[in-house]
Amino acid sequence: MKTLLVTGGCGFIGSNFVQYMLDKYSDYRIINLDKLTYAGNLANLMAVEVDARYRFVEGDICDAQVVEPLVQEADYVVNFAAETHVDRSIMGGAEFVQTNINGTYTLLDCAREYGVERFLQVSTDEVYGSIDEGEWTEEWPLEPRSPYSASKASAELLVRAFQITHELPTLITRCSNNIGPYQYPEKRVPLFVTNAIDDLPLPVYGDGSQVRDHLYVEDHCTAIDLVLHTGLVGEAYNVGGDNDATGIEVVKTILDMLGKPESLIQYVTDRKGHDLRYALDSSKLKALGWKPQSDYEEAMQRTVDWYVQNEPWWRSIKSGEDFRTYYARNYGKR
Ligand code: NAD
Ligand code: DAU
Repeated sequence: MKTLLVTGGCGFIGSNFVQYMLDKYSDYRIINLDKLTYAGNLANLMAVEVDARYRFVEGDICDAQVVEPLVQEADYVVNFAAETHVDRSIMGGAEFVQTNINGTYTLLDCAREYGVERFLQVSTDEVYGSIDEGEWTEEWPLEPRSPYSASKASAELLVRAFQITHELPTLITRCSNNIGPYQYPEKRVPLFVTNAIDDLPLPVYGDGSQVRDHLYVEDHCTAIDLVLHTGLVGEAYNVGGDNDATGIEVVKTILDMLGKPESLIQYVTDRKGHDLRYALDSSKLKALGWKPQSDYEEAMQRTVDWYVQNEPWWRSIKSGEDFRTYYARNYGKR
């Protein structure tokens, strides 16, 4: 049996990844270390709770005493744990620095001490900044522009330093906007889908001309699996879905799929420092044999369908204290 330590496995991508890996590999044990912040949800992994190969540990990646024994047990580490929402990082970045930088350092330091076969850091295309035209390759400089992306870029630099200095076998993946089941409804797509279901306004920042690539979460899981097992140590890999769309296109797609009127669109004050466009060249990963399976229409349709079919999941979040406080703070004065 191989032991995989997944951090942040109760969040959106982490929970999809845990499920994917348990389904695919009968000879993997998974330890999921998660602090259960507002974004961590045990309900995301209810289906695997009974699986003897799965173990949940509630704890903080910044806490070396918690991390040490888990890393000692692990053959592989995949670090998803992070504060992830750009708007929250604009309202206050302290937790982003703490978890995304100090937490990554703690994991790296334990991995250096006890040794692991591979350490994979899940990063983001936002570390590159914003690009007006063309696509980023992995050689582009890191030019983050928000407190969130700066913290993720900082974490990457630590990963790089541990690889060079301590020869820790590290890998980095930089993916675009994931969509799919179990995404906390503060992020655009689940927020818009669930607001539209309730005939609430869909708040589009600025003029809605910003471009994002959309990656179906299952395609991200297959990419991480591939990089973890066959990626070249010390390298970074872009993971894009080849599904570009502007803000306007996204909001119209969602309304159209739900049969809701465009009068629900509400233009609101722009995000500070809003990145205009992200675009990834994923040919390095494709050369390893990866290809995204879901195009834009399919990825959006599967996502919309999941939120339509799983109302109790998102209603319990949206009716909770954390979400309502955040919503009032972020949108109240827009
Ligand atoms: P998420 O916000 O849904 O989940 C984050 C998880 O990390 C939660 O379960 C939370 O409880 C846990 N966590 C937070 N702080 C922790 C700590 N100190 N110790 C232990 N656990 C902690 O995030 P997500 O959208 O699933 O993103 C996962 C990773 O992928 C992040 O590293 C993020 O930067 C990266 N990423 C996400 C996207 C995207 O579109 N969602 C795109 C690119 C990269
Ligand atoms: O690109 C990868 C990144 O994607 C990840 O690293 C982040 O963790 C993840 O949160 C996501 O960041 P974005 O800022 O791109 O995602 P978000 O869903 O917050 O916003 C997507 C776009 O939609 C962006 O242009 C801002 C816009 N937006 C967002 C919200 C929440 C709106 O117009 N209205 C909104 O209410």
